[in-house]
Amino acid sequence: MIPVACARLGEEEIDAVVEVLRSGNLRQGMKCSEFEEKFKGAVGAKYATTAANGSVSLQAIYANWIGPGDEVIVPAFTFFATAAMVCHAGGKPVFCDIDPRTFTMDVNDIEDRITRRTRAIAGVHLYGNSCDIDGILEIAVKHGLKVVWDAAQAHLTKYRGKDVGSFGDAVSYSFYATKNMTTGEGGMIASDSPQIIENCILMKQQGQSKKYLHTFLGTNFRMTDVEAAIGIVQLGRLAGFTEKRRENAAFLMKGLEGGDGLVMPYTEPFVEHSYHQFTVLLELEKLKITRDEFAAKLGEAGVGTVVAYPMPLHKQPVFEKILGDQHFPNAEWVAKRCISLPVHPYLSQEDLEKITHEVKNVIESCR
Ligand SMILES: Cc1ncc(COP(=O)(O)O)c(C=O)c1O
Repeated sequence: MIPVACARLGEEEIDAVVEVLRSGNLRQGMKCSEFEEKFKGAVGAKYATTAANGSVSLQAIYANWIGPGDEVIVPAFTFFATAAMVCHAGGKPVFCDIDPRTFTMDVNDIEDRITRRTRAIAGVHLYGNSCDIDGILEIAVKHGLKVVWDAAQAHLTKYRGKDVGSFGDAVSYSFYATKNMTTGEGGMIASDSPQIIENCILMKQQGQSKKYLHTFLGTNFRMTDVEAAIGIVQLGRLAGFTEKRRENAAFLMKGLEGGDGLVMPYTEPFVEHSYHQFTVLLELEKLKITRDEFAAKLGEAGVGTVVAYPMPLHKQPVFEKILGDQHFPNAEWVAKRCISLPVHPYLSQEDLEKITHEVKNVIESCR
């Protein structure tokens, strides 16, 4: 079976972890500082600080600006944490629809949702594709809003030649096991603002401005040096991983595009996608097959797939309870039809050929 995601740790990661274990310093220390320095250099940010995962790094960023009842505009189609962490920071997510071609926030659906309680917009670079940074920044400047960029899936994605990590108020990353680079669990906050990073550091260290002097309602979500040691090695491999993902995506695109029944992922010409996922849309109206059957047939043929995400956030019971019955046609349309194929850097030429062959086979047999 060709897995849809695959992380492999080599001798270098193992040696780096052993070095930390031998040092006896397991908590946040020099390795975290080194990881922060190297990561901010890689994404072109002025400052960066590590976190326990990408969810709490979002929470720490939101906590800079959000108080009880404050609102953040979030795309209705993203991973749960982008919206849930608004609530954990004391605020309320307000959903907007997505562009069904890029799968990211529809900038034409933001302004009508701004109220006097809106504090920020959460721009998500979903699957490794950049959202419309210029469009979102224009609205944010016009209305005096902050922007949180969720780049959990977008390591080394570029927008108009600049890394998405070098934009705006604050950028949140995840290093979860299936991400484009991993520390097992882990996160990073990148920003050009020393104040935002300072607040996030307070947030992850129990709000202590001095030992046992708590000036901020923080908690503990620090990374450990064991994770940071893995992160440093993985960061060294990230450019190679990303190049391979882009090559794999180009191969899949060439092999699959033009086929009736399947819509290829769309990237604006000025975006360099990092292909955390290679997500296609099934034109179900043209196929005599459901998405589950399509995935099952590919599975039988040895090709793994994943549906990220089968339910848009406004339909999730927890948000329906808070926000009531809402309708975002593009998010719903995409959630019904999306499916991701393997694109990870460990695919061989044989794997790539098998994926395109089997996908075409299933589509042709079901039209
Ligand atoms: C878009 C997005 N935001 C936030 C997160 C949360 O990151 P973590 O799993 O590291 O908490 C993820 C992880 O899947 C994600 O994909």
